[in-house]
Amino acid sequence: MAGRGNFSSKLGFIAAAAGSAVGLGNIWGFPYEVGSGGGAIFVLIYLFFCFTLCLPVMMTEIAIGRKTAKNAVGAFEKLGYKNWRFIGMLGLLSGVLILSFYNVIAGWAFGYVIEMAKSNFAVADSFSTFTSDVFTVGLYGFVFMGITAFVVSKGVSGGIEKAAKFLMPTLIIMIIGIAVYSFTLPNAIDGLKFYLIPDFSKVTGQVIFNALGQAFFSLSLGMGAFITYGSYVGKNDNLVSSATLITLADVGIAFLAGLLIFPLIGFMSEGSMLNVGRGPALIFVTLPQIFGHIGGGLGSLFGTAFFTLLCFAALTSTVSLLEVPVAYLVDERKMNRKKASWLVAGTIFVIGIPSLLSAGYSQFFTNFITYVGAESATDFLSFIANVANDSFLPLGGILITVFASHVWKRENLHEELALGNPNYHQSWLKKYLNFVMPIIVPMVLGIVFILTILVNFFGF
Ligand code: PFF
Repeated sequence: MAGRGNFSSKLGFIAAAAGSAVGLGNIWGFPYEVGSGGGAIFVLIYLFFCFTLCLPVMMTEIAIGRKTAKNAVGAFEKLGYKNWRFIGMLGLLSGVLILSFYNVIAGWAFGYVIEMAKSNFAVADSFSTFTSDVFTVGLYGFVFMGITAFVVSKGVSGGIEKAAKFLMPTLIIMIIGIAVYSFTLPNAIDGLKFYLIPDFSKVTGQVIFNALGQAFFSLSLGMGAFITYGSYVGKNDNLVSSATLITLADVGIAFLAGLLIFPLIGFMSEGSMLNVGRGPALIFVTLPQIFGHIGGGLGSLFGTAFFTLLCFAALTSTVSLLEVPVAYLVDERKMNRKKASWLVAGTIFVIGIPSLLSAGYSQFFTNFITYVGAESATDFLSFIANVANDSFLPLGGILITVFASHVWKRENLHEELALGNPNYHQSWLKKYLNFVMPIIVPMVLGIVFILTILVNFFGF
């Protein structure tokens, strides 16, 4: 496929795809979900969903992409099902919405690199002052989006793959380095116990479906990101082993992020694991306080390193989010990649402005909507996250699995998965996919989709 670009190797694809998966969801979202969702038991349920339900969806997306060598929309048409292009359109919409707010948070992380380098730990005590300074954080977001557009404009192997091959190993080294340091702090062990020893009495419906939502978002599923990346993969690559490695990398890094963060919380709470913010504020409020507590040059060093790694993780994800609409414009509208990258990035930056304003600056966007039965208002950024991450992605996942099982047909999926994988037809995986794909995966995702909507928006 001259002109579209390809990953130069299987490793390049795995780095880029793992880069898409590993992001704010792993390092910001996962520890706070664990913190508020019952500790180790959440981790177990999350792992279960990643491998039993999400991995099949990932394989399906990559297979559709490689089979067609097309973007998330064009892929359905290329398979001969023009009427199913709407799944790709929904994916494009999800990608645009997710990137619009994700970039705002990435901009905060970027700003924190600077604050930590200046040893300004007090930024944590006035987080809302930080986020309300929209001109400064807007500039950080603008720069972040610019870097994302630059990488995407350089193409698949020259930009996306190259960036991921540098960023991913660096990120892993940084996480391990900080985690090892966090183990040495007093009371680290109490944090580790909370994280690693499951308490089965904490299992609730909410914990279960949060775990599935987290797994889905964290693995970048349901919006055609892997259809798009799959379209750049060589015909001889083994998709089953690639998807397995991507999932392992994603859960592995989320797990490492927990190993880094919970000992710090153990330290900060003097072993009680109480009275330390563990919700969404965990990364931006609690952690800098901890770095401040460590104090001096060391606190600044680890703080800077931590937020740099958060930015690296976010960047490989924003790149994949931007690539989905860019690939569409390049394939379907014959637009030049460079132009498409800058145009889409600029547009999404503008779409993200209400999210930027919704963290304190504008009362209208900060108290944007009050869901039925809720006690307080939800800000615009969280509202878009609820719509896109919690509703559109599972819906996309349902549609993709239903399409692959019942429209495109499983035999075609199997045929694609067997390329580069000669033993596939005798494998237990094939039997497993036959078992779960037609009904179980769409049904479980459907239940979670409905429950999430009822709980999120209607206060059940
Ligand atoms: N998986 C990313 C994260 O965990 O932060 C978020 C994401 C990236 C979702 C790309 C969807 C996507 F297509």
